[in-house]
Amino acid sequence: MSTKEKHRLVVCPAEEMQEGSRQLIEVNGVEIGLIRAEGVCYAFRNSCPHQGVPMLYGSVVGTMLPSDPHQYIYGNHNEIIRCPLHGWEFNLKTGKAMFSPDLSIKMYEVKEEGGEIVLYLDRAPEQVTRKEFSCILSS
Ligand code: FES
Repeated sequence: MSTKEKHRLVVCPAEEMQEGSRQLIEVNGVEIGLIRAEGVCYAFRNSCPHQGVPMLYGSVVGTMLPSDPHQYIYGNHNEIIRCPLHGWEFNLKTGKAMFSPDLSIKMYEVKEEGGEIVLYLDRAPEQVTRKEFSCILSS
């Protein structure tokens, strides 16, 4: 489904999504978390596939990359969100779990357009609620 065929939903003015900001909205009964990290906005279903904990409370981190013994290579800086309960990690660019490509969090298409943060959804956003969210973490 291309962006043109999707349903456009303005989430907030772009100035409300500064670096490290987090936003929470509910669309058709599904919570969607938004984070800006390293200038990029990400939107994802706010539920860990393990036990349903809100992912928006997770830390945004990098990780150690696969490497030879005794080599330690850091990568994916601020491209990974870590579940706050048991630490499962997901790549924010793909939604895929770092430990298994078969497991993922649902990612949503999000863009910054004309000074607004916009979600593109597969289904029409019939019920939208912007929810209060506060967290001491930043990305
Ligand atoms: S609830 Fe997220 S890793 Fe367990």
